[in-house]
Amino acid sequence: MGKITLSVVKADVGGYVGHSSMHPDIIETAKEKLLSAKDKGLLTDFHVTRCGDDLELIMTHKRGVDSEDVHKLAWNTFVACTEVAKELKLYGAGQDLLSDAFTGTVKGMGPGVAEMEFDERKSETVIIFMADKTSPGAWNLPLFRIFADPFNTAGLIIDPNMHGGFRFEVLDVHEHKKILFDCPEEMYELLMFIGTTGRYMIKAVYRKDGDIAASASTQKLSLIAGKYVGKDDPVMIIRSQSGLPAVGEILEPFTFPHLVDGWMRGSHRGPLMPVAFYEANPSRFDGPPRVIAAGFQLANGKLIGPRDMFDDPSFDRAREEANHIADYMRRHGPFEPHRLGLDEMEYTTMPYIMKKLEGRFVKE
Ligand code: F6R
Ligand code: MG
Ligand code: MG
Repeated sequence: MGKITLSVVKADVGGYVGHSSMHPDIIETAKEKLLSAKDKGLLTDFHVTRCGDDLELIMTHKRGVDSEDVHKLAWNTFVACTEVAKELKLYGAGQDLLSDAFTGTVKGMGPGVAEMEFDERKSETVIIFMADKTSPGAWNLPLFRIFADPFNTAGLIIDPNMHGGFRFEVLDVHEHKKILFDCPEEMYELLMFIGTTGRYMIKAVYRKDGDIAASASTQKLSLIAGKYVGKDDPVMIIRSQSGLPAVGEILEPFTFPHLVDGWMRGSHRGPLMPVAFYEANPSRFDGPPRVIAAGFQLANGKLIGPRDMFDDPSFDRAREEANHIADYMRRHGPFEPHRLGLDEMEYTTMPYIMKKLEGRFVKE
């Protein structure tokens, strides 16, 4: 049947209430748009969902990654949904659409994108992760665990097909450069970079034979717009089973609610809490940051699913721990490390305060 492309494109087109969740009319509008594109043959299949205030368009098609037609469809869908958001006066209507017109790709225009093209296997298992109130660096730790840490992924030891390890593509989002690291050989070099989650982000993971295993969105809105325009709220696609990490190995790192950048005003560190779809409504202090996992089987490009992968009591303790960490971090109030350092503060009033106090600083 030839190669299939799986594209996940997301944007915040308006929140309900505040930045906490999404109005059902937005989802309905997006579904109508994508259904008509499917009827016209542009899409093989689609699924529309949301995480917090972010609209998630999950699409399969035959046009490859970076397809202008598919990106245009996503863009026009966000524009149509923004109209609905404006009518309902939802909060921050159209906040992620940084341009007035479509120019061939949604990249650099505000929405986040994760895409991959591959030959559908005899049975193709994929998991799509979607987060709210955080940024793409949040995927570095779980991606490392899934594809390089034998204490997480038993298959790295037990499955001869995984012994070769995996190749990580890492982006330097400040310098707009990328580099490949092979694991396990270059594990320490890889960790040196990806530990700096605000700058170095894992963009993709490959098998050593070149087959793609994972793809993540790496758009940083603040770097695109040059000022605070909301958090990037990233997405990620991971293929699973038969020589790739098992579903359980892919979900396992999320039992540790690690600290990520985001939360209130995109300016705080907080735990990433894995939740069921219906619980993805960050409310406390506009958080704490959430992640959902939608599992699918592909059948000739048809999306069979989703299964709500974190809707499982075995993640209860991670949620409880996340709440403990949230309490602990909140007690720091405006102090670091709860509040981000100045260079990562995206909502910073520091330049204004500095200017106001300019004349009052004297040599000590
Ligand atoms: C974080 C986020 C929210 C807002 C906060 C203030 O990514 O979206 O925490 O930053 O609700 O929003 P404004 O400045 O629009 O009142
Ligand atoms: Mg928002
Ligand atoms: Mg959001």
